[in-house]
Amino acid sequence: MLGNFNYCNPTKLYFGEEAIKNLSDELKNYGKRILLVYGGGSIKKNGIYDEVISILNEEGKEVTELSGVMSNPTLDKLYEGVNLARKNNIDFILAVGGGSVVDYSKALSASIHCTEDPWQKFYIRMEDPDNEIVPLGDILTMVGTGSEMNGGAVITNTKEKLKIGKVFNEKVFPKFSILNPKVTFSIPKYQMVAGFFDIMSHILEQYFSNTDDNTSDYVMEGLLKSLIHSSLVAVENPEDYEARSNIMWIATWALNTFVAKGKSTDWMVHMIGQQVGAYTNATHGMTLSAVSIPYYRYIMKDGLKKFKRYAVNVWNVNPAGKTDEVIAKEGLDAMEQYMNKIGVVMKISELGVKEDMISDIAKSSFILPGGYRVLTADEIEIILKKSM
Ligand code: NZQ
Ligand code: ZN
Repeated sequence: MLGNFNYCNPTKLYFGEEAIKNLSDELKNYGKRILLVYGGGSIKKNGIYDEVISILNEEGKEVTELSGVMSNPTLDKLYEGVNLARKNNIDFILAVGGGSVVDYSKALSASIHCTEDPWQKFYIRMEDPDNEIVPLGDILTMVGTGSEMNGGAVITNTKEKLKIGKVFNEKVFPKFSILNPKVTFSIPKYQMVAGFFDIMSHILEQYFSNTDDNTSDYVMEGLLKSLIHSSLVAVENPEDYEARSNIMWIATWALNTFVAKGKSTDWMVHMIGQQVGAYTNATHGMTLSAVSIPYYRYIMKDGLKKFKRYAVNVWNVNPAGKTDEVIAKEGLDAMEQYMNKIGVVMKISELGVKEDMISDIAKSSFILPGGYRVLTADEIEIILKKSM
């Protein structure tokens, strides 16, 4: 049975090869002083930077640049951005980059006019902003996180070794997102497949919970099938527009709040993966791939009915003459084979995790109650050891 919910997603999307043409009109809706936020420079290599600057100039905007937003953006970088934005009295944030740049820009948009320490308020006490929000829009260049149409803003506190995802309310969602699948052709393969698995993980985190019959599960099975098919095509030919455009669209739907409505969700792969990230600064999608199979094998019996359904409906396992447990296991085996085929990391040891970090990673992982089994820190340690 679906639970009660409110649904509102205020982000306007522009999708396709010509999507950037809408930037000028969008910018007319906002003030003059623009903060242009980007990462380590990929946008200068692939020409997007020049294109954006010329549109900003044509619109007569005053541009302040904030570059060097790193993957897994840090709290120190957030403080730097807050100071810069305050000094320049910024009216609008234009984020050009991947999930890290877009997440960072959301954290910034909520923090610029916040009179308290944003880490304490938004990330520790998990409060919503009660101050003015500086609006933001984005041009997405990397696919996976879903940040283009949600309130997620993951920040890493390197001193405290905590990577925390704040989910802001609709006021902080991007006002618009510009999605051109062609822009994703230049993503390096390692990042590309990490993004593919991030999408898969977002869907599975919301799929592996609840035993009721609900529409979201059918939607998610469809998204998964399309993702599996298109990602295998894209790994062979990264410039296959059909595959890359499908994947870009699946990523948005996987985490734009829609499939989670009315049902419980798990998110333990992300909780463990995020702490692996906090200790290693590894690529987000790879922290998820490395812990997923050990985690799902560990909880499989607790959610057997759903794991069986997953095996049959998503991985086409033939159930004839087999026990539920064998069917479910074959589904996870098929998932593991697929992961090896697209080339994601399967071991946390390959991400820089050492034996002596495991206990701290386990103890510092947040434990959420929405999945088929509420883990203890000791159980997280077992799962992490299986991933070494
Ligand atoms: O920094 P630049 O030079 O731009 O290079 C980036 C970066 O090195 C590069 N890149 C991006 N677009 C490119 C490109 N290179 C060539 N061509 C392009 N078109 O790719 C690298 C990775 O980018 P990044 O933004 O870090 O990756 P991603 O989009 O995976 O974002 C990861 C961050 O998002 C958070 C993660 O925890 C992590 O901090 N997440 C956000 C979520 C949300 N908002 O809901 C949910 C996710 O679960 C995730 O936690
Ligand atoms: Zn993720």
